[in-house]
Amino acid sequence: MSSKKTTPTRALDAVHKPSKEFSSKARIPSMAAYKKLYKESIEKPAVFWAREAKELVWQKPWSKVLNWKAPNAKWFEGGKLNVCESCVDRHATGPRKNKAAIIWEGEPGDKRVITYGQLHKDVCRFANVLQKNGVKSKDRVLIYMPMVPEAAVAMLACARIGAVHNVVFGGFASEAIIDRLEDSGASVIVTADGGWRRGKVVPLKPVVDEALTKCGQVKRVIVLNRCNHEVQMQPDRDVWWHDEVANASSKHTAKGFDSEHPLFVLYTSGSTGKPKGILHTSGGYLTGTYSTCKYIFDMRDDDVYWCTADVGWITGHSYIVYGPLANGVTQVMYEGAPNAPDFGRFWKIVEEYGVTIFYTAPTAIRAFIKAGNHFPAAHDLSSLRLLGSVGEPINPEAWNWYHEHIGGGRCPIVDTWWQTETGSILISPLPGATPCKPGTATLPFFGIDAAILDDAGNEVKAGQDGRLVIRKPWPSMIRSIYGDKERYKKTYWSDYPGIYTAGDGARRDKDGNFWIIGRLDDVLNVSGHRLGTAEIESALVSHPAVAEAAVVGRPDEMKGQAVAAFVTLKSTHTESDALLIELRNHVGKVIGAIAKPDDLHFAPALPKTRSGKIMRRLLKELVCTGKISGNITTLEDVKVIEALQSKLAK
Ligand code: WT7
Repeated sequence: MSSKKTTPTRALDAVHKPSKEFSSKARIPSMAAYKKLYKESIEKPAVFWAREAKELVWQKPWSKVLNWKAPNAKWFEGGKLNVCESCVDRHATGPRKNKAAIIWEGEPGDKRVITYGQLHKDVCRFANVLQKNGVKSKDRVLIYMPMVPEAAVAMLACARIGAVHNVVFGGFASEAIIDRLEDSGASVIVTADGGWRRGKVVPLKPVVDEALTKCGQVKRVIVLNRCNHEVQMQPDRDVWWHDEVANASSKHTAKGFDSEHPLFVLYTSGSTGKPKGILHTSGGYLTGTYSTCKYIFDMRDDDVYWCTADVGWITGHSYIVYGPLANGVTQVMYEGAPNAPDFGRFWKIVEEYGVTIFYTAPTAIRAFIKAGNHFPAAHDLSSLRLLGSVGEPINPEAWNWYHEHIGGGRCPIVDTWWQTETGSILISPLPGATPCKPGTATLPFFGIDAAILDDAGNEVKAGQDGRLVIRKPWPSMIRSIYGDKERYKKTYWSDYPGIYTAGDGARRDKDGNFWIIGRLDDVLNVSGHRLGTAEIESALVSHPAVAEAAVVGRPDEMKGQAVAAFVTLKSTHTESDALLIELRNHVGKVIGAIAKPDDLHFAPALPKTRSGKIMRRLLKELVCTGKISGNITTLEDVKVIEALQSKLAK
């Protein structure tokens, strides 16, 4: 045996304590400080949250911090505020007036710096534009934009006039726009000709045009010219952003709205085919996003913060627009793809602007690992001091690579667990306090009473799996599913009375850390984005050749989960490779490219129970393991699964 010493490789599950250097400057510098404040926040939530909310601008103080009649919360009842004043006006009228709010880079390399003073004028102008076009308080405005500063301007302008924005991710197709328009009842759309992605213009206005051929309620479409791409303008309906703002005043009074005034609706997938409009309101939502940015990202005046999400997702709402701006931070915003022109783009941006806090998703990290270490190695990333992760559990390999190759071994990583519904981060390390283990989002944020329950509602023991729940209301929580209070109650509050069910399975280790296992419902997590299996199934069934479809997830190295679909054709159609391609594209057309099945199998029949329910559990096992070992006693016809098994084995 050789006695030669080898370099010890760090165990994948090593505990990483924050450095003294980081802790000494952090707002929460130790576990003792975390525990003390956490205790107060749970025992006296009104005291804790009032202190946080007081750091925002209020036009009228609240009379009661929380009015809670489960499942209905009113936070900062009686208070009046204009969300825009905390995010923009107060910075624009103080010492941050000429500070960069947004440093934007377009994919082709064009750059813009927008100061808080400028942002204030832009938002005021666009608020005047919206009002001139008839938008009033509580009206819904659908925003379908690329990642340009005007997307944030449009959202803030809605907030300023009390209108409710509904941002639809630019990757969604026209059918998705129609569903959301019909549900939200929006009468104005803000869009652009298109946006740049991987060297090409992704058209947006034509997708809106297509949607509007089937949906008559929209009176006005405001179009930003981003790419000089030719678009059809419909007279009487469509106007150019630049024409409208050219004549608009840069002065606009920010009227105060009730703390519970609706701020936005954002649609997300559930276990039925119909996306849910998650409704968030003003005072509580802003308090939650503000406070989590302050403590979890430890935001400072000299930070350069960059969140790589798209404004079309909740991360873009909470951690590009509202939270960071309420903190008056400088942030980077980037329009395009991470690999345009190559996988060095992000690291080039970090170096160029001296990014200090960087927030991205595990799926992106895995793509960077695959692309090669030479991309980050070619750039000076020494400005970074803190890294964040969101969207799905981060696998220890990705955590360690992120820590070493991006964070230079010195940056804490905050693995942040939250949801569209929660509005802000609920479980995460505090970077100067919490010892981190790769793969766990660690401990609840202040005021968050998280627990893991069994079916009977008892807390499970350490190491046991159960359902992740939140037992106390928190300010940025969902208020309703837009227009469907019953579905709201049923979806989130009916498993255990008065307790919020997240829909995630989880377990805690002996140190109390939360390990998120994944969704418990028929929802997939593809590249950190939620996709309902029912939505994809209904998209497939809407094709004339399809009689029936079943969709399940299977593990995927890059995306976390991939979409596997089984399709039974009508007897009038025959199986062919061309049809497989057509069906994939059809899903892309109905929902958007992210929902296209990765695997598509023709199935002569689907495995069903005797009562006719599709047994997705068996299909899942089949795509994950290639065989069935689970219980098949309820299966109506064993031959169906045998046939599929031999088909997949080919
Ligand atoms: C679902 C919420 C929150 C913004 C992005 C997704 C999963 C999210 C984590 C994490 C493990 C995570 C959960 C959750 N998820 N973050 N850090 N660790 N899982 O928002 O589309 O509302 O999805 O994403 O399953 O329920 P969303």
